[in-house]
Amino acid sequence: MIPTIEWKDGKVLMLDQTKLPGEIVYVDCADYKTVAKGIKELWIRGAPAIGIAAAMGVALAARDIKAKDFDSFYGKLVPACDHLAAQRPTAVNLFWAIDRMKRFAALHRDEGVAKIKELLAREACKVLEEDIKINRAIGEFGAGFIRDGDTVLTHCNAGSLATGGYGTATAPIRVAVEQGKRIKVFADETRPVLQGARLTAWELMHDGIDVTLITDNMAGYFMQKGEIDLAVVGTDRTVRNGDVANKIGTYTVAVLCKEHGLPFYVAAPTSTIDLSMPSGEHIPIEERHPCEVTDVCGSLCIAPRGVKVKNPAFDVTPARYITAIITEKGAFRPRDIRKLGDAGADLDKVRIKREERP
Ligand code: MRU
Repeated sequence: MIPTIEWKDGKVLMLDQTKLPGEIVYVDCADYKTVAKGIKELWIRGAPAIGIAAAMGVALAARDIKAKDFDSFYGKLVPACDHLAAQRPTAVNLFWAIDRMKRFAALHRDEGVAKIKELLAREACKVLEEDIKINRAIGEFGAGFIRDGDTVLTHCNAGSLATGGYGTATAPIRVAVEQGKRIKVFADETRPVLQGARLTAWELMHDGIDVTLITDNMAGYFMQKGEIDLAVVGTDRTVRNGDVANKIGTYTVAVLCKEHGLPFYVAAPTSTIDLSMPSGEHIPIEERHPCEVTDVCGSLCIAPRGVKVKNPAFDVTPARYITAIITEKGAFRPRDIRKLGDAGADLDKVRIKREERP
């Protein structure tokens, strides 16, 4: 697996995913504003990876603050956090990571500014380390739902490139392959930014996993022919009633799965769960630049000049289309996801058994 992001020599080293699959280029981000630019411009993307980048961005911002006492330090940290938070609206991991870093700083307020800066850098690295472990746990829980010989459809890139490593949607696939199951993956190309074609197809090929690229409008055809057994996707935000927001086109895949009686799984770390939102219609959907639709890979124009364009980057899949949400704490029916925020809940009662494919 190619590392997506690293904290190295006091800088954030970020793989520029806009250049894939043609070139492997790492950008050195020496300050938080460059990290913010990387999030906005999709050098780094995918909800968990955005969270990791934001945590590292906060650590860089903290390091560069000149302040003698905590209050003046914190007063300067908050605007930097706000700047990072303003880059993309949908993936809740961005806000989750920034809040975590702010709370962590406040918790250590009595330890002195120099010490807090050092601790924040360590905490950001911990966010990355934890993500790698969480991905693995998602894989262990999810692999039980994939049978020997299955073909799995995935949409966008919820792979190692979207996380600290291993991926969310790709984690069950990777573990199933490690278990010796013969698995094939169909990757939707994922217009308009082509995360499926440029990233998922590339990373799975790189790791020796059998992958076939299809355009977004081909999924129904292959389901009708019985060539797809299940779908696994990621999410940018999962809310209280189990609705999820993920890359535009995910809803279409979920509806197709229901029509064909196929399981539709969502794989995500619990940091992607936002229990403060009651249902999916409240999730802010990012509208991106029209040129992503009118041009391919920023160079070839495929539409008439001046045409009206809409470019929502995400859609909401209602809970009723989702078979299970696979997290590092186990797999759950969407209606039970709210119990993850309930300290008194007995999760064993609602956790789906590993080998029991719902
Ligand atoms: O616009 P992107 O590339 O950041 O969108 C990414 C997705 O939609 C992913 O499926 C989602 O963030 C989950 S990543 C594990």
